[in-house]
Amino acid sequence: MSVASLFSLRGSVAAVVGGTGTLGSTFCRGLASAGASVVVIGRSAERAAAVSSDIESAGGTAMPLVMDVTQGGMLEEGHEGIVRRFGRVHVLVNAPGVNASTPFLALGDEEWERVLATNLTSVRRACQVFAKGMIAAGGGGSIVNISSVAGEIPLSRVLSYSVSKAGINSLTRWLARELAPHRIRVNAIAPGFFPAEQNRRLLTPERVEAILRHTPLGRLGDPHELVGALVWLASEAASSFVTGAIVAVDGGFTATTV
Ligand SMILES: NC(=O)c1ccc[n+]([C@@H]2O[C@H](COP(=O)([O-])OP(=O)(O)OC[C@H]3O[C@@H](n4cnc5c(N)ncnc54)[C@H](O)[C@@H]3O)[C@@H](O)[C@H]2O)c1
Repeated sequence: MSVASLFSLRGSVAAVVGGTGTLGSTFCRGLASAGASVVVIGRSAERAAAVSSDIESAGGTAMPLVMDVTQGGMLEEGHEGIVRRFGRVHVLVNAPGVNASTPFLALGDEEWERVLATNLTSVRRACQVFAKGMIAAGGGGSIVNISSVAGEIPLSRVLSYSVSKAGINSLTRWLARELAPHRIRVNAIAPGFFPAEQNRRLLTPERVEAILRHTPLGRLGDPHELVGALVWLASEAASSFVTGAIVAVDGGFTATTV
């Protein structure tokens, strides 16, 4: 098999939860350029339509799907709509995310629950709904959860976020074992720092300076730099023996201590 065909997603259907975001929209375009039909899932109808029409203008196939993943029932309904249009889903990417940085002693339940509901509970629910569909369709599948450097070692100032991403790492490894008999591989990507909507207020000049001092490659990431890892994990041919992995794409941030 040629290297190009190892990384081809032609004939696959990929659903990206959070596909309207900074990283998620890049994931959608990347998966489409590897040949997948892409379902762009997000809260904003306008953004989901814009990402989908970008893909279609480049000759790809896309379907916008609007939902709030914290609302029970919406994922099931959305999944049914995808199956009606495409027959099945081969690849699920979970990239919804919110962040917040209230100091610990002032932190209330609202913020804690909102971050965990979006970043962790909705991902657990999406894994359940889409895994059931993959099992019913047969032939396996690939789930890629978007974690963070905060998943392995907590990041200062963002407690709820760090806990949610530690949960994503555990969920990913747990599901790798649980879903292996169904030939569903479950992996995560742990990005370093990429300027986006959810971290715009957190990435102050002082914090960026501290991050860069601790990043061997000495710069923030560009969303395109995550696409190679994503397509590799999405492709059954390229990563058939990889499951339960948390792949850091962080310029070396988690490789060393001071
Ligand atoms: N940007 C970074 O530096 C970075 C680093 C590590 C991990 N991540 C993770 O990458 C993922 C994408 O984040 P991003 O940085 O592109 O941020 P972003 O704010 O640009 O995108 C977040 C996405 O999540 C969606 N979302 C939020 N709440 C939702 C809900 N209730 N229902 C449906 N969709 C919802 C938003 O609509 C948006 O599409 C997140 O999981 C984030 O934690 C980002």
